[in-house]
Order: sequence, then C-alpha cells, then structure tokens
Amino acid sequence: MKTFNTIAALLPAAVLGAAVPRAAEYSVTDFSAACIAHSTYCALNFNVTTSAGAPTVTCSFFGPGPDYLPAIPLSGCSDPSVSFSFAPAADKSAFPLTVVSAAGPGTNLTGTYVIPGADVTLDNNGAVVDERYIGGAEFVITDLTTIPA
Ligand SMILES: *[C@@H]1O[C@H](CO)[C@@H](O)[C@H](O)[C@H]1NC(C)=O
Ligand SMILES: *[C@@H]1O[C@H](CO)[C@@H](O)[C@H](O)[C@H]1NC(C)=O
Repeated sequence: MKTFNTIAALLPAAVLGAAVPRAAEYSVTDFSAACIAHSTYCALNFNVTTSAGAPTVTCSFFGPGPDYLPAIPLSGCSDPSVSFSFAPAADKSAFPLTVVSAAGPGTNLTGTYVIPGADVTLDNNGAVVDERYIGGAEFVITDLTTIPA
C-alpha cells in the first residue's frame, strides 16, 4: 500500500511534466481597432504576452477597410514566432481575434478571443461611417490548443 501511494503521488507530476509546459493563456493589452474618419484605412493594434514573464510582443495592422474593420489574414507580429488573424462575422455579431505562437518543432499554440458584436460600434461621420472597437483594452485568450505549425 505504501508503495502504491508513493507511485500514485508521483504520477500526476510526471504526467503534467510531459504535457503542455507553457502558460495556458495569452494576455492581450492595449487592444484597439478602428477605421479612420475620412480615410479608407483601418488600424488594429495590441500587445500580447504568450506566457507569464515573456517579453511583450506588438501586433499591428494598418490597411484598407475602407469603413468597416476588415478580415486580416494570419500576419506576423514584432516577434516572428507570434502571429494573429482577425475574422469579423459577416453579420457583425462577433469579431474573433486569433493569436498563434510557435510552441515547438512543428507545433503551434493557437487561441481565439471572440470580441462580441456589442464591443464594436459604428461612428457616423457625415457622409461616411467608421467602425471602431469600444470594449476593454485588456483581455485574456484562454483555451489554447495545439495545432501543426
Ligand atoms: C506595447 O509594447 C511596447 C513594447 O513593450 C511598448 O513600447 C508600448 O508602449 C506598448 N503599448 C502600445 C499601445 O503599443
Ligand atoms: C505557426 O506559427 C507561426 C508563428 O506565429 C506562423 O508563422 C505560422 O503561420 C503558424 N502556422 C499555422 C499553421 O498557423
């Protein structure tokens, strides 16, 4: 019995050690997304840390909207091991932001934060409208999953 208990106590630690050694979430700060009044361009910017204590990585997009926040294909951030994509739903009900980071040879860790439609507003600037994020500048991306790189 004593031997069994010792093995049982050691087992979870061994299993955990072999599993995902990284923090299981991404912390996003300074998030902003807006189309610029009287311009055909939109900007999306944020900082992200992929694990506790890791350096801050800056992710930026600046490109044509013209008025509505555009879909952004997987794009590199300031650290080439981190990328992001943005995929507004056609009906504006959700604006999912995905962050992908290299997690090892042939492996990426990906997670998506679904920005609710209520966190995006439409400014009426006379002849044109401009879409803009009005939610909190900080949020956490949880439920990260491993995918082939
Ligand atoms: C993002 O991180 C960079 C680098 O750490 C920092 O200089 C910047 O002030 C942060 N905030 C924004 C909004 O970029
Ligand atoms: C894996 O992550 C790297 C760095 O973020 C990225 O360049 C690459 O496109 C990603 N691959 C997939 C399949 O997401």
